[in-house]
Amino acid sequence: MGVTVAVVGLGFGRDFVPLYRSHPAVDRVVPVDSDRERRARVSEEFALEAGYDDLSSALDDPTIDAVHILTPVATHADFVVAALRAGKHVACAVPMATSLDDLTRIIAEHDGSGLVYMMMETAVYGREFRMVDELVSAGRFGALTMYRGFHIQNLDGFPAYWQGFPPMHYATHALSPVLALLDTTVESVRCLGAGRLDEKRRTGGFDNPFPAEIALFRLHGHDLVADVTMAFSQTAHPYAEGFSLAGEHLGFDWAGDDAVEGVLHRMEPPAPGERGNRVVVEPAPTSSRGAGLPPSLAGFTVDTEVQLDGMPRPVSVGASHGGSHPHLVHEFISSIVERRASRIDSRVAAAWTAPGIVAHQSALADGAERAVPDYSK
Ligand SMILES: NC(=O)c1ccc[n+]([C@@H]2O[C@H](COP(=O)([O-])OP(=O)(O)OC[C@H]3O[C@@H](n4cnc5c(N)ncnc54)[C@H](O)[C@@H]3O)[C@@H](O)[C@H]2O)c1
Repeated sequence: MGVTVAVVGLGFGRDFVPLYRSHPAVDRVVPVDSDRERRARVSEEFALEAGYDDLSSALDDPTIDAVHILTPVATHADFVVAALRAGKHVACAVPMATSLDDLTRIIAEHDGSGLVYMMMETAVYGREFRMVDELVSAGRFGALTMYRGFHIQNLDGFPAYWQGFPPMHYATHALSPVLALLDTTVESVRCLGAGRLDEKRRTGGFDNPFPAEIALFRLHGHDLVADVTMAFSQTAHPYAEGFSLAGEHLGFDWAGDDAVEGVLHRMEPPAPGERGNRVVVEPAPTSSRGAGLPPSLAGFTVDTEVQLDGMPRPVSVGASHGGSHPHLVHEFISSIVERRASRIDSRVAAAWTAPGIVAHQSALADGAERAVPDYSK
């Protein structure tokens, strides 16, 4: 018997429906959204059953094994706890939660449950991350010196619950790559708020006066410092979500845009009679995008069009976030089928999410250094 997955929240969640439908270990996909029109539209497009209006009905359905939560951020912690309590495996969009208490609450519910929890962090499954990971593992960078993560987006016109959102509460896309590359966690953080958020953008009810926040994270067991910039308003810059990394021998630079390839900087000795090392700049190689995926999912790492059984017409499926979505789906479903922890289980997710929560506390305290809790067992 394959897995039955409910996709809860069909905005960003819609992108995941054809991926679950295409996974060989998934039997059924059940749509859940309180917006009935949206749910009906997605059901019709992808030939799904009618589904449910609310999470609790899905949790009461004994045929549903797993839920993937893609509802607004403020719902994540309560929905994840409710789903685990109902005995369902859970995947949840980032961030895991926005308070340290909620991170602890989710870990307490997940620990010992025998269920899978996975935070669906796109940034550690995108093609750029995967390529850099291969080079770091092969020792090509040499000793690492500099990491800069950034997420710059403009939230004007987004739903009310995004207005004034503390940028560091969403730091996982910019920070998790370095934590995953080095298999480490954050020891402490100093963060400053930058700019002054216009009163008209403070309507979401958050304690946040900053359009941007800039943090320096100290890492356990490494000299490398992670420098992370988050900006959600009042910053005239194209959407960017990415990172740069430099070591003694090799550097990687990327604009953080799906349409722009990254570059590698290869350090060479000075030319004879010259001073200063030469740096050769070359396009970053693309790692094999579908590696490790079942054939039916590999095609989703690039923009594609699908018409699965029962679908009335073909539908375009974008491969945003570096083609990461099929990898996330495969890891979540595989961890259920193989009865093992997911790669981003609740303790890893907390270790990747807490630093941003603490960074915002530091920014509110004008940059005071703050320790980040340790979530290892
Ligand atoms: N790269 C990434 O990882 C990435 C990218 C985009 C969004 N996200 C995350 O995905 C989540 C969803 O983002 P979005 O842009 O689709 O949000 P959205 O607000 O556009 O859509 C949310 C959907 O959830 C539905 N919904 C809201 N409350 C509900 C409830 N109580 N029960 C059932 N349905 C409910 C809404 O009707 C809507 O269709 C957010 O948490 C966001 O942070 C992550």
